[in-house]
Amino acid sequence: VLAACTSSTDSAPGRLIGPTAPRVQAVERGRQTTGQTRTHPLTAQVSQVDLGGVQANTWTYDGTLPGREIRVRTGDLVEVPLTNRLPTETTIHWHGLPLRNDMDGVPDLTQAPIAAGDTFTYRFVADTPGTFWFHPHTGVHLDRGLYAPLIVEDPAEPGGYDQDWTVVLDDWIDGTGTTPDEVFATLRQGMGGMGSMPGMGSGGPMLMGATSPLLGDDAGDIAYPYYLINGRLPAAPATFTARPGQRARIRFINAGGDTAFRVALGGHRMSVIHTDGFPVQPVSTDALLIGMGERYDVLVTLNDGVFPLVALAEGKNATARALVRTGAGRAPAPGARPVELDCALVGYPALRPTANVALPAKPVDVEHRLELTGNMMSYKWGINGRQLDLDTRPRVREGQRVRVTLANTTMMWHPMHLHGHTFQINGTGPRKDTVIVLPRKTVTCDFDADNPGQWMVHCHNIYHAEAGMAAILGYE
Ligand code: C2O
Ligand code: CU
Repeated sequence: VLAACTSSTDSAPGRLIGPTAPRVQAVERGRQTTGQTRTHPLTAQVSQVDLGGVQANTWTYDGTLPGREIRVRTGDLVEVPLTNRLPTETTIHWHGLPLRNDMDGVPDLTQAPIAAGDTFTYRFVADTPGTFWFHPHTGVHLDRGLYAPLIVEDPAEPGGYDQDWTVVLDDWIDGTGTTPDEVFATLRQGMGGMGSMPGMGSGGPMLMGATSPLLGDDAGDIAYPYYLINGRLPAAPATFTARPGQRARIRFINAGGDTAFRVALGGHRMSVIHTDGFPVQPVSTDALLIGMGERYDVLVTLNDGVFPLVALAEGKNATARALVRTGAGRAPAPGARPVELDCALVGYPALRPTANVALPAKPVDVEHRLELTGNMMSYKWGINGRQLDLDTRPRVREGQRVRVTLANTTMMWHPMHLHGHTFQINGTGPRKDTVIVLPRKTVTCDFDADNPGQWMVHCHNIYHAEAGMAAILGYE
């Protein structure tokens, strides 16, 4: 996205950043704040991390993978001085949070990229509770380990749990490369026979044609060497401990670049209570499917023993895992596959927002149809046939009820993300900021235009986004 943004700015200097700034300030003044400032300095740096027996040279926030969680209360002012010790420019996008536009972290759209060696301070009111996360919005940098949770607690929420766990899912390459082509080249060289897999045109990715019963024929483009939960390989998993009978809230975040995960906790059913930070009427399930960028919060009443928390890389025949330990016993083998993974799986149609967050009924004022276009052979992913088109951005006006219709014309699924807003899907469905659009299917996304600015809408397969499956929704 960076390259496209930069060249477009060049041809239209000043056009992107200027006009909305004063109105954005006004919006921030309208946000409810506790008056508390939470300062959380970050350094983006080159690091060596231990994945559990494997040392990886990569990029991190402050040397850890994932980066340290930021946890604040609703209405706190979040202040993050970010020092860039990477060999290239960076930014941070606060995924899912409807914050002021000038803090949204999209280079050359909402801010100038932060040059190597520079510091930039993000400062915004986090007035929406929920499970969020953050990552760079430059190149495919998030696929190198630059990601971390952002939890906004709601003091008004009933709670009713003893443990609060964050589970970050990731597909991992020991990354050299910051552009899709570099990453694909690394994969081709480094992964034995995989480089000679059939199929992709030059510049295209590895794989795959991996079929997933849930996602269709092209579940993913890339066969990663590793899949991680909280930065750990299955042989040396992160372990969560509790007492039998306790209730745990588990916050799942998919920080992967090109992998949907199917997750289950062996020996348990989960009650889904939030998706993308927004509460839903609780639904009980054995397993969940989580696309890149999506989050799910669940409640689980814990049994006695040692249980595998497994994330199956959908269509890729590989798993990541953590352990939940509430009693004595041996850990199940690293390859153990809980039966729950193949049992009932909750889908969007089963999810309903709670009454307090359902979008009030109102006629749609403006509708934009975004066709997802492209194919694996050309790897020219786009929206309405164009690659990151900055000139024909769909427009909205403040106060409008907006419907964005995402129509997937491709043979591959796409997790589509809109910045700065949370939309309600398919009329009465859950409120989300990232939604899986299956091959040949259509999803409607309704929201109120209440956060002025210039906002990206893009596929959260970051390779697809980089290839051009991105557009900008602009307030007039
Ligand atoms: Cu999590 Cu524009 O992205
Ligand atoms: Cu996509």
